[in-house]
Amino acid sequence: MIRHLKSPGLFAAIDRVPAPGTRAGERVFEVFNPSTGELLARLPDMGVDETRAAIDRAFAAQAGWAALTARERSDVLWRWHQLIVDHTDDLAAILTAEMGKPLAEAKSEVAHAAAYLQWYAEEANRIYGETISAPSTDRRMLVIKQPIGVVGTITPWNFPASMVARKISPALAAGCTIVLKPAEQTPLVAGAMFALAAEAGFPEGVVNLIYASEGDAIGRELCSNPKVRKISFTGSTEVGRLLMRQCSDQIKKVSLELGGNAPFIVFDDADIDAAVDGAIQAKFRNAGQTCVSANRLYVQSAVHDAFVEKFVEKVRHLPVGDGFDSDVAIGPLIDSHALAKIELHIADVVAKGGVVRCGGNRIGEKGTFFQPTVLTRISHDMTVAQEETFGPVAPIIRFEDADQVVHEANDTIYGLAAYFYASNLKRVWHVAEALEYGMVGINTGRMSSEAAPFGGIKQSGIGREGSRHGLEDYLEMKYLCMGGI
Ligand code: SIN
Repeated sequence: MIRHLKSPGLFAAIDRVPAPGTRAGERVFEVFNPSTGELLARLPDMGVDETRAAIDRAFAAQAGWAALTARERSDVLWRWHQLIVDHTDDLAAILTAEMGKPLAEAKSEVAHAAAYLQWYAEEANRIYGETISAPSTDRRMLVIKQPIGVVGTITPWNFPASMVARKISPALAAGCTIVLKPAEQTPLVAGAMFALAAEAGFPEGVVNLIYASEGDAIGRELCSNPKVRKISFTGSTEVGRLLMRQCSDQIKKVSLELGGNAPFIVFDDADIDAAVDGAIQAKFRNAGQTCVSANRLYVQSAVHDAFVEKFVEKVRHLPVGDGFDSDVAIGPLIDSHALAKIELHIADVVAKGGVVRCGGNRIGEKGTFFQPTVLTRISHDMTVAQEETFGPVAPIIRFEDADQVVHEANDTIYGLAAYFYASNLKRVWHVAEALEYGMVGINTGRMSSEAAPFGGIKQSGIGREGSRHGLEDYLEMKYLCMGGI
């Protein structure tokens, strides 16, 4: 049972979300609290047949949903937004219980989820076409925008509430219907959000949820079923590649938000205290389990020692523990595989001459807690600088030359997020333009917002989420040419 729930009815409704006819069989799977190992819930373990049934429902509902006025679709999104705001405390408690993040972070994530719904409730009313000056007088040429159709969405465990809203609110605003499979570790907050969606009054079949302990077969069905016209996925580059391959037979559209290897660069003209605070935020939010986490910190020689001293002092004092305990800044990692990966990265650093300045070890026997860790004397070729660590580990690389550091920062297959701290305006523009990333934080350690286009280049993904650009990703452009005028 989850502590602090104000309305246990919402939690009880999670189990009932999948529509009759889309839940068959007796199979169940279990959801655990990563801080305590406690069993939180047993959910129906749905498979290919149930996914197909959910797709059929979404397909049947598509034309009716698209035929509503933009204002009517917007009204339902507004009601859902309001219900999420009203249930923030319970949604946050469910999120902390199943994912582990500190309750304050969970509340901020629920607020962020609500902000996406608000944004796209507004944006639903702003879908515009265009008229084009025709090259001859007997023609008129126009462009209209129409919803893509049924969208299959697969969301990750690290932001189990905001990713649901970020993916499906633009799709719904555009007039698409959706089938969503949340991560098997964190299906509960998605279930609670869908229970509230039912209360908001979405017509039958517009939003459909699949609970499943195993994603491969569901993903394959979503990619290969011709009734699904687009896939939107957030997760690893490896899985994104696989889904894209599976979508290629039908030339199905994809939006992919994949892995990153974000550089965080501190130049010698930076405000060092601000850079330390920004690095704490960019590295340790969500215990380092975000795809925009600072993965490698580059600090210019003249300010390296001062930065390291201040940074280590703050990191040492970050409180780690159960997300429900007050003042906790860092919760557990999602599972034991995450712990093992971190340990491998640290062992590689130590074997190659790097230094553990603080942290470096698991905490306790119970749960999956790891000490916030700072590593120095890191070189670009160490595993920790090459691969996404996805944990509370900050490797620091000393650098001398400003052009060389941009070259090293770009020397990766990834291109999601980068950060840098500097004050010289010429340098700020030069570096911002030279970094090969979809998003660049300048003198800030946090940039995610419903108002901004979130997404990456290179092998970090395709498409953007948030802002007016996020809506375009769910619309098809149709050119109309009228002759004989
Ligand atoms: C992520 O996609 O991992 C980061 C999400 C966010 O910063 O909101």
